[in-house]
Amino acid sequence: MTRKIAILTSGGDAPGMNVAIRSVVKQALALGIEPFLIFEGYKGLVENKIFPAQNFNVDDYISRGGSFIYSARFPEFKKEEIRKLAKKNLSDQGIDSLIVIGGDGTYQGAQKLHELGIKTVCLPGTIDNDISSTDFTIGFDSALNTIVEAVDKIRDTSLSHARCYVVEIMGNLCGDLTLYAGFATGAEVVITPQNKMSPEEIATVVKKQTFEKNKRSVLILTTEHLYENLKNLAMEIEKISGVETRSSILGYIQRGGKPSAFERVLATFMGIKAVELIFEHKSGLAIGFKEGKIKYFPILEALSIDKKDHTKKITQVNKINQK
Ligand code: F6P
Repeated sequence: MTRKIAILTSGGDAPGMNVAIRSVVKQALALGIEPFLIFEGYKGLVENKIFPAQNFNVDDYISRGGSFIYSARFPEFKKEEIRKLAKKNLSDQGIDSLIVIGGDGTYQGAQKLHELGIKTVCLPGTIDNDISSTDFTIGFDSALNTIVEAVDKIRDTSLSHARCYVVEIMGNLCGDLTLYAGFATGAEVVITPQNKMSPEEIATVVKKQTFEKNKRSVLILTTEHLYENLKNLAMEIEKISGVETRSSILGYIQRGGKPSAFERVLATFMGIKAVELIFEHKSGLAIGFKEGKIKYFPILEALSIDKKDHTKKITQVNKINQK
């Protein structure tokens, strides 16, 4: 029977990770399992930074952003000899189960540990919402709320000065934050990796919105990595459209801050389910929230599910926001 379980957070941090950690620790204690915390993700696991969770008051972190057990990107975990060290560090403390919170790379690490005989379960933790085995990742809703608040503020100044703004949003290669922010803020142009537009195409919409629709304010939201230089893009749009245009990169504020209420509830349910699966001797699984229910999939299946196709929603948001 599982007597000891460890948890770590890996990859980019996300609001709600602390809630998931708390939930795992509490549920483990409720089932008579001793919980451990690993500091600094897989890197900390290899460096043996494993501590009994009871030394920490997990309740203190329910409303805090980031990960209080820290996170790290650790590409070295792809090496087998490094993973064997990780297994040894767990086994030395009598720990046979591990719950990880993170994105794709984190899932791959957990699959490899599962193959080495460690019982593993993954929770989706990233602001990007780029894990197809869940409708919502832990961190997405909070980041979205931060973005909406920021874009609303940009709208205020845009209206006062009759300007156009290009706003860059995180998401890596996933456009979900941009798309949903488009619906929530009414931004006139929403650009994701699925509908990259040229400066000329953007400027045509800006002209239409300004001169035909008489709008004082035009907002363009774009996912990061699509344009090399946002300032240059703004200048080009201004040159072609004749409308004063500025740019704004929202940056790392999107990763920080309090988890939203939705996130707290989601992370709590996911944490409970993860420990239950370990308690039932299941392993190599990834938790997801699909069609309103907490579900789980083999990690390999979770990683191979096709990326969500949002083409229709992207067309829809641009259509209604430009009317
Ligand atoms: O995965 C979360 C994320 O914030 C992405 O949106 C972004 O592209 C990336 O992490 C930034 O990574 P780093 O913190 O390594 O700069």
